Amino acid sequence: MHKAELTWETIDWNALDRLRGAFLSGTGTSGVYWQARSDLASYDLTFAQRIAWKWEAVLTELQARGWTPPTGTVLDWGCGSGVASRCVLRAFGPETFSALRLFDRSSLAMEFAAERALAAFPKLPVQTGDPAGERGGLLVVSHVLNELPEAGREALMEVLRRADAVLWVEPGTHADSRALVAMRERLRDEFSVIAPCTHQETCGLLAAGNERHWCHNFATPPPGVMADSDWVRFAQRMGIDLRSLPYTFLVLERKGLRTAEERFSGWARVVGAPRVYKGFTKLFSCEASGVRDLTLQKRDAPELFKRLKHEEPVLLVKGDVVGERLEAIEATLP
Ligand SMILES: C[S@@+](CC[C@H](N)C(=O)[O-])C[C@H]1O[C@@H](n2cnc3c(N)ncnc32)[C@H](O)[C@@H]1O
Repeated sequence: MHKAELTWETIDWNALDRLRGAFLSGTGTSGVYWQARSDLASYDLTFAQRIAWKWEAVLTELQARGWTPPTGTVLDWGCGSGVASRCVLRAFGPETFSALRLFDRSSLAMEFAAERALAAFPKLPVQTGDPAGERGGLLVVSHVLNELPEAGREALMEVLRRADAVLWVEPGTHADSRALVAMRERLRDEFSVIAPCTHQETCGLLAAGNERHWCHNFATPPPGVMADSDWVRFAQRMGIDLRSLPYTFLVLERKGLRTAEERFSGWARVVGAPRVYKGFTKLFSCEASGVRDLTLQKRDAPELFKRLKHEEPVLLVKGDVVGERLEAIEATLP
């Protein structure tokens, strides 16, 4: 059955219930859960679509930051239905890359993802299977970390160390963010951190007293989703809040690969959701010097205050900080 043949009418709800159970209980760590092609097709239409909205947020930010991936191959590790690499190929253009390799512990998943990639990008060579020692290229990782026991994380670490650049998106939970931060710290010697950080220092969340915080932002689902009866039914059955799309991510580029431009040094990353009060906003800010709460007075930046109030994404801010007060905003992104 091709993806195009699976619709909301023919979706396998029982498979989605089972997958949801596996994702929630962490039984993903104990074995392959893709049992049939229709599992992947049903996932691709639903859970994977929500993941695609997170990828779109990350890729939009990268484009706004002026970063493009190195040319060469794309490896989607733990590809599932292959949604992550399709988002990346669409964002940067398939012609940017020489080939796509899809790897998963499930051969059913690799076959499905390959079919979907070939349908979307007919001219791009697509391979499946273990990357076995291949070096270079862009490594794409999406929603895999919490399924990997220690040995699996070390196997992935080997793959990471061979890549030229890494695009990695995970759910925006405390545990997943902290796990990704741990990976960042291990890879910082070999790679420049492109995003979300604006600096190359130790992650400020690791400083004593910051244990309750985690690095995350929120993607916005497309307009109309909340009023779409299929999505509403999916959300109700799966116990999901459609509006909430927290993600955590990491983008790395091998040191020395290209001339690095420190375009965002001195900028602050806004972590989590800004807290808007009457006349002021609290932003949890990440800078080279560490993480801290900053206060933005409405009168100092009325336009920015309005955007924050309307929950528009404001991810990066450059301005003067006096004490804990953010003033004289020079620029924001996006
Ligand atoms: C939640 S799914 C995410 C799939 C896809 N990356 C996405 O974002 O939609 C996790 C995927 O990781 C795969 N996986 C888990 N452990 C793995 C391992 N040790 N090696 C390769 N793939 C693994 C699973 O089979 C599954 O396809």
